[in-house]
Amino acid sequence: MTAQPITAQASGTFAIGGDLTVHRLGFGAMRITGPGIWGEPPDREKAKAALAAVPGLGIDLIDTADSYGPFVSEDLIREVLHPYPGLVIATKGGLTRHGPDIWRPVGNPDYLRQCVLMSLRRLKLERIDLWQLHRIGPDCPLEVQFEAIAAMREEGLIRHVGLSEVSVAEIEAAQNFFPVATVQNRYNLVDRASEDVLDFCERQNIGFIPWAPLDKGTLTKGSALSGIAARHGVGEGAVALAWLLKRSPVILPIPGTGDPVHLAENVAGAGIALSDGDFAALDAQGRSG
Ligand SMILES: NC(=O)c1ccc[n+]([C@@H]2O[C@H](COP(=O)([O-])OP(=O)(O)OC[C@H]3O[C@@H](n4cnc5c(N)ncnc54)[C@H](OP(=O)(O)O)[C@@H]3O)[C@@H](O)[C@H]2O)c1
Repeated sequence: MTAQPITAQASGTFAIGGDLTVHRLGFGAMRITGPGIWGEPPDREKAKAALAAVPGLGIDLIDTADSYGPFVSEDLIREVLHPYPGLVIATKGGLTRHGPDIWRPVGNPDYLRQCVLMSLRRLKLERIDLWQLHRIGPDCPLEVQFEAIAAMREEGLIRHVGLSEVSVAEIEAAQNFFPVATVQNRYNLVDRASEDVLDFCERQNIGFIPWAPLDKGTLTKGSALSGIAARHGVGEGAVALAWLLKRSPVILPIPGTGDPVHLAENVAGAGIALSDGDFAALDAQGRSG
């Protein structure tokens, strides 16, 4: 009998907002753009191949944003995957772009509304399953931004609302306006600054989407993970993802890549059951940096 290949199904499921069930291991679509997350990817066909491979690997949660490119990531997702059978496309708005690696948050309600309307048009959708406020803008009171988002949710343009790079106090402030379905903060084995936010999300059953789950690639090579990776016959990145999946049942990692080979390597993380001993050893190593 031949062994079945590992898919993201092995990562288990999480119901976003209580009713939108996805496999926990998702895909981050920021890396299918140019250097500095600006413009077209250097190899468009390779980026398209990575996207095309996503559903076959059991991944049904794709994270993107209007600002990736800008627009390039959403456009490619539509080109390759529309009408998205069985897929949840989670996008974001609220960041303006002024060049490679330059991101400026804007929270003006008219701008946030334009972000949602233009994402709907680019993705060819009538409603966005999960729309995330990329950053709380410094230009107007946060209540004004939350009110605008609540209105778009009530209007049916957005099904579930997520936040990104927020504190517990900011999540609680948002909960006065709408249910917070997900929180997307930077978090991985070696960056634990959002530990308090993760614990809050777990208590409230809010999906926690750790961005840079591979620490932007540094956890895929020559790290403390290599011994455990060799024992499981996988790459180091897969072990970093397995650690996240074991850390909390509300964690939904979205490793980013524009390379179909890396994508398949990362999915192997869904099939690894880390022992409690390996989990604790990695935890201690990660905390000590
Ligand atoms: N909310 C926010 O503010 C925010 C900020 C940043 C990112 N995000 C989201 O989070 C997702 C993940 O973050 P991220 O992409 O910055 O970081 P990441 O997932 O930690 O790492 C991505 C980097 O690792 C490399 N990589 C991935 N798999 C690999 C493998 N198996 N072997 C070797 N290298 C590998 C990628 O290069 P290759 O393309 O060559 O594979 C890429 O450079 C993004 O795609 C985006 O959707 C959100």
